[in-house]
Amino acid sequence: MGEAEKPIGVFDSGVGGLTVLESMAAMLPGEDFIYVADQGHCPYGTKTAEQIGDRVEKVTRYLVSCGVKAIVIACNTASVRIDRARAVTDIPVISVIQPTCARAVEVTRNKKVAVLGTVSTIKSGTYQKILQESGVTCVPLACSEFVEYIERGGSEEEGERLVRDKLGAIKDAGMDTLVHGCTHFSLLEKYMRKVLGDINYVACGQPAGEELKKILARSGALNAAGGRIRVLTTGSVEGAKRSMSWFGAAHEGVAHVDIE
Ligand code: DGL
Repeated sequence: MGEAEKPIGVFDSGVGGLTVLESMAAMLPGEDFIYVADQGHCPYGTKTAEQIGDRVEKVTRYLVSCGVKAIVIACNTASVRIDRARAVTDIPVISVIQPTCARAVEVTRNKKVAVLGTVSTIKSGTYQKILQESGVTCVPLACSEFVEYIERGGSEEEGERLVRDKLGAIKDAGMDTLVHGCTHFSLLEKYMRKVLGDINYVACGQPAGEELKKILARSGALNAAGGRIRVLTTGSVEGAKRSMSWFGAAHEGVAHVDIE
């Protein structure tokens, strides 16, 4: 198999990264993807940096053993520990954080950007630092409870209430842009719009996909002949099917994998 024909590895703690995969598959329809939902270890966002690093290393090793040509860490929490992935492979590994920050800096007019992330991502200060260095004021908000709600597949009413309660803290902060600094959160955007109105909403999928495309093009590794998506979970297949039901047909073939 030539380099271009190899699949691209993508992972997240759960279903959030499928929002990134969806954008990437639309931008790169000729690529094959292997997606790992590390649901046996979800959530990442309330774990220690060391525990998250361990999962990043193990999932990366697994994807490398599948023969992928690049890895996209479709999870902000895990992207903070990209060092643990880069320590075990020389293939390109892409973080969602830098491309997403760059997009937010591009679209904000008043230079004030809210970043919603997990407890761990917000605590790491990664978004705050990058935005500040670009002359943008960051309004951070840790919302790990959104992850649990999404993975469980709670009701519409609960989702709206949860988002309304949480966003009350930043409702009047004056930002013109909000970053979904957790890949799960763009699934809640419809509720966020009801509270914050028509500001800019920046998700990780498009910026990360553009970064991936650029890197593959540079090394002549773009594929036009594939298009298959394989979805794996380290949790139960039944649970995965339930939590992934909003995501195209690919989730129907979801299979279990142990990554320890
Ligand atoms: N979707 C992940 C992110 O982008 C984290 C969810 C979790 O806490 O596991 O940060």
